[in-house]
Amino acid sequence: MELKQAIELRTSIRTFTDEKVPVNDLREIVRRAGLAPSVNNYQPWMFTVVTNTDTLSLMAEKVIKKLKEIPSNNSIAAKNVLSQVEWFATFFENAPAVIAIAMENYETVLEKGVQLSHDEINVMRNHPDIQSAGAVVQNILLSAVDLGYGACWLSAPMIAKDELGEIIGLSEKYHLISFVAIGKSSKEILQKPKKSIDEIFKLIE
Ligand SMILES: Cc1cc2nc3c(=O)[nH]c(=O)nc-3n(C[C@H](O)[C@H](O)[C@H](O)COP(=O)(O)O)c2cc1C
Repeated sequence: MELKQAIELRTSIRTFTDEKVPVNDLREIVRRAGLAPSVNNYQPWMFTVVTNTDTLSLMAEKVIKKLKEIPSNNSIAAKNVLSQVEWFATFFENAPAVIAIAMENYETVLEKGVQLSHDEINVMRNHPDIQSAGAVVQNILLSAVDLGYGACWLSAPMIAKDELGEIIGLSEKYHLISFVAIGKSSKEILQKPKKSIDEIFKLIE
């Protein structure tokens, strides 16, 4: 598939058929993710792919538990919003595969020469670790489309990132950034409306 077509076809897919995603496809998707640019080419990422349904259910349970701990005014509106958020944060449990994207702290050149902590430099540089993760996730999403799958980026489950990291056996040097759920879409695929080029393009000549 041409890149342009993959970009134009991509849209978030949240309901999937039962069809499994072969491990070779998952490996290929992660291989392409690892080709993304990263700060200093540090490639601070680690990908854990979960296809085990019991593990996915346990992960969703942890997310729900955390969501329930959020203080609420118990209004009908609050209940509606929370139940909506719960679905958007846990539908991954019914996906054939979930890729958990984790990052380790990258080494900055500055760190060696100035009296600033890693975190201070990270903020100063506008979180290059998170920016690198964005490049990775987009590679995953486009590769999923290219291989005939649908996918969705999820940050909402990160409310339980410590518990989720423990479940997937993430080593302490990594912190979870996001999930991508992948599978064959069970519904007709319709792209969302997007802003026109005239709304988003500014040229300084
Ligand atoms: C950083 C980020 C986090 C997101 N987190 C979630 C999420 O937790 N749950 C979810 O259902 N969708 C999530 N999405 C998907 C967005 O809702 C989706 O991209 C947006 O509605 C635009 O739709 P499209 O992807 O079909 O173009 C996330 C997207 C991004 C970029």
